[in-house]
Amino acid sequence: MAYPLCFISLILPLLVICACCPSHTAAIRFETKADAALVQSICKESLDPDFCNRTLAVDPRVAAASMDGLALLSISLTIDQLQTTSDNIASILGQTSDPVGRQRLIVCGTDYKDALGQFLRAFSSSDTRAYWDVIDRVRDGTNKVIDCENIYKRDPISVSPITADNHNVIKLSELTLIIVDKILPH
Ligand SMILES: *[C@@H]1O[C@H](CO)[C@@H](O)[C@H](O)[C@H]1NC(C)=O
Repeated sequence: MAYPLCFISLILPLLVICACCPSHTAAIRFETKADAALVQSICKESLDPDFCNRTLAVDPRVAAASMDGLALLSISLTIDQLQTTSDNIASILGQTSDPVGRQRLIVCGTDYKDALGQFLRAFSSSDTRAYWDVIDRVRDGTNKVIDCENIYKRDPISVSPITADNHNVIKLSELTLIIVDKILPH
């Protein structure tokens, strides 16, 4: 709760000043900065702040986003990543003839389809501020992606061709959970 309150206390006087100002430029710059600081606090809490910088922090939509908006944004970045990975899986499958490799990619394809369903529902729940449901959906969806990562660790062990994509999803999910944790009352 500390963050939204702090944020409101910064923004309210600003809106008053803004209403009296002939130019809104200073206010816009200030608001953007406040949001950037908020996103930095999220990035710093994450396991990979550099990844957070390259994904969430650079998104132009961050500038105008509230905390609820950041939750929606992080979920929509995850949905984009899931769709990109699904396309990658289909294209790698087209170039794979080894039966074990094919079978694993097919399992991953199903995992990603399930994960996408969970994250689409997480988006709807986030939109209605049903954040406990968001947590459940994000966890279930992420577990599907972890399953896809783990099947390559079984005999015969091999390197997953989509391990980087899997980790992107896992890291984006972490960002959503950090944001939701800041929204929920403690
Ligand atoms: C992320 O970006 C912020 C602001 O530009 C910077 O201060 C911070 O060092 C960056 N963190 C990493 C890990 O790159």
